Amino acid sequence: MLGEKNPYDSELGQQYAQLEHTEPTTWLVLEDLPKLMAQHLAHKKRLPLLNKQSIQALKWQALDYGCGSGASTRFLAKCGYFVHGVDISASELMAAQQRPHPNIQYRHITSKWKNGGLQNSLSSYKPTCFDLVYSSFVFLILSSKAEIIAIFQEIYRVLKNDGIFVFVVASEHLCKYEWVSASNQRYPRNPLARSGKELQIDLRIPTPENPNAFLTVTDYYWTDTDYQNMLRAAGFNLLQAPHAPIADPHDTRAAWKAELQYPPYVAYIAEKM
Ligand SMILES: C[S@@+](CC[C@H](N)C(=O)[O-])C[C@H]1O[C@@H](n2cnc3c(N)ncnc32)[C@H](O)[C@@H]1O
Repeated sequence: MLGEKNPYDSELGQQYAQLEHTEPTTWLVLEDLPKLMAQHLAHKKRLPLLNKQSIQALKWQALDYGCGSGASTRFLAKCGYFVHGVDISASELMAAQQRPHPNIQYRHITSKWKNGGLQNSLSSYKPTCFDLVYSSFVFLILSSKAEIIAIFQEIYRVLKNDGIFVFVVASEHLCKYEWVSASNQRYPRNPLARSGKELQIDLRIPTPENPNAFLTVTDYYWTDTDYQNMLRAAGFNLLQAPHAPIADPHDTRAAWKAELQYPPYVAYIAEKM
């Protein structure tokens, strides 16, 4: 539940659209995902390990749930998938469509959580039509576990039996420390967060003109146990321990902070039970 207004329909969405996953703190979880997803899919489908060309030749269909302005959708297309990007924000989808790609199509969906029930127009997709359902930085902005489970159930419905569901969210540590690309400095109560708590985090987005520029986002704090329980409640089984990488001290691409000790973001890779 996002309240009456989706904040990504406003200036926040326009600013978020500029990020394109360029913040070093997010690289850590994203950079191993193309290989991990290909490995799990190949294993599920009893195929040898696949590269981008073979993924393309197989015409694997991916759904990017909550695609926003398309950074995650383009990431999946670069991996070789044919991607359907869906989002509830018409303005985010308009921004996405400004960068067309032959293997991507976008669709506006509605998703309403009302009186304990989900009305989600993912229902216009046939059952078992996607090899991969992917979602990055979406479930952490939803405030209700029951709604997340109901969306997981819709995802379960559209996922092929030999497909995989992958989603990326904040780790339990993100709201507790200082990171290259995220700060809790202005929110001293963040480290005390409990399950379901709404919190603000500043994403650092330095520009040549303003090295201290940041974008404030509102997230909900869900624990690893919460995510694992929600997955199970929707009928999913984790294929591996949550993928939660930390930075290598020899990696000089950024002046890492808490990334050297704790994983800022985590990816869950699941199959249908
Ligand atoms: C933080 S952005 C992430 C966008 C993109 N996945 C990425 O990684 O850059 C979150 C997106 O989720 C969308 N969203 C929020 N609630 C949603 C829902 N219930 N169903 C689908 N999309 C939703 C928002 O409109 C927004 O575009």
